[in-house]
Amino acid sequence: MPEPLQPALDRLRPLLLDTEGLIRAVASGRRRAEHPDPTRAELRPVDLRGERHLQVTATDGRTPVVLNHTGPDAEAAVDSLLAQPYGNWHVETREAVVQLRVTKRGEAQVHTSAASGEAADTTHDRAKNHLIDPADPLFTILGADAAKRRQVDAFLRQLAPIARRVKPEGRPLRVVDLGCGNAYLTMAAHRYLAAEIDPDVQTLGVDIRPEMASRNARVAAEAGLTGLGFKAASIEEAAADPELTGVDIVLALHACDTATDDSLALAVRWQARGVLAAPCCHHDIQRQLTDSDAGAPFAGLTRHAILRERFADVLTDTVRADLLRLLGYRVEVVEFIDSRHTPRNALIRAVHTGTAPTARRVAEYTDLVSAWHIEPALAERLAPEVESVLAN
Ligand SMILES: C[S@@+](CC[C@H](N)C(=O)[O-])C[C@H]1O[C@@H](n2cnc3c(N)ncnc32)[C@H](O)[C@@H]1O
Repeated sequence: MPEPLQPALDRLRPLLLDTEGLIRAVASGRRRAEHPDPTRAELRPVDLRGERHLQVTATDGRTPVVLNHTGPDAEAAVDSLLAQPYGNWHVETREAVVQLRVTKRGEAQVHTSAASGEAADTTHDRAKNHLIDPADPLFTILGADAAKRRQVDAFLRQLAPIARRVKPEGRPLRVVDLGCGNAYLTMAAHRYLAAEIDPDVQTLGVDIRPEMASRNARVAAEAGLTGLGFKAASIEEAAADPELTGVDIVLALHACDTATDDSLALAVRWQARGVLAAPCCHHDIQRQLTDSDAGAPFAGLTRHAILRERFADVLTDTVRADLLRLLGYRVEVVEFIDSRHTPRNALIRAVHTGTAPTARRVAEYTDLVSAWHIEPALAERLAPEVESVLAN
């Protein structure tokens, strides 16, 4: 039930100032038509020279500012933050987790749940374990569970160096997430990129399911995210959209089957400088392998269904990486997260360099596809570009 805002904020004050009970707190998002300064603040207790302090890390979208407070100084810092028009407060103590969200009507929606049982990490130089704090209210608003948070964080670790590298001069960074689904990654990437790489970053999530765009736009507004949009379209339709140009980075996390090929093809067509695609199921090449006979000594690789399935995964992503390389990308295929968290943990990470392929690389690709009698979906989608490279 919504309740008056000020008394609800007043109840947070002692929790934030209790450095023995507080684990961490995050203030983020914004209220309708208002802009908190700083845009985000994280509070946690730290021990400095044997004395407990309240550490406040404030971010204005650029460099975080860290200040450590005690006594009246800490009270002033907390009062100043509570007076800012944040849309969300997440306060985690030894006793409970309190989430306060400010509604469109300016009331407080408070949700209190059991404590996580986690102890406060009061070391001053805490290693930065997460790119986005798992306690960030964004995840609560999104409804993301711990496994999804971990997956998103691991993906962001791969994205960060590429975003730094390809960020254009003189205009905002443009990122498109294809097959964005519930947009956990889209929103977390946008939040991270705006805070660390480019405050003016523009992000678009595309998904074929129409209900996703409206749901995601509502959640983004609730989380106070700006510069982020959603489009209900297939990747093919996005490819034909004349307004979609100047895309710097294409993301595709577990886009189904050949939707990953659609995403990679579109990245090439857009000449996106950075591409991060974690493929999902690989039915296309699997189907082709069922009818294919590579002959001795490789026939055993596809004889048993389970091995054929695994081999198809490897062959599909090898061919994708090869094709991107032929088309001027520097490509790496890495595990972005431990397989305990998702078996679909391979990531194709590519940066456009424009380097022409060597004759050896071209032969490697043509020999591979002809040995297995396969017609990769990505080669089909990029037929003119691939033919031009093979002809040279
Ligand atoms: C497994 S979900 C992954 C969602 C999200 N990227 C994530 O990791 O949470 C795959 C998503 O791709 C979308 N999708 C599949 N084929 C598509 C296509 N051709 N065009 C656009 N979206 C597509 C589906 O609707 C679905 O939401």
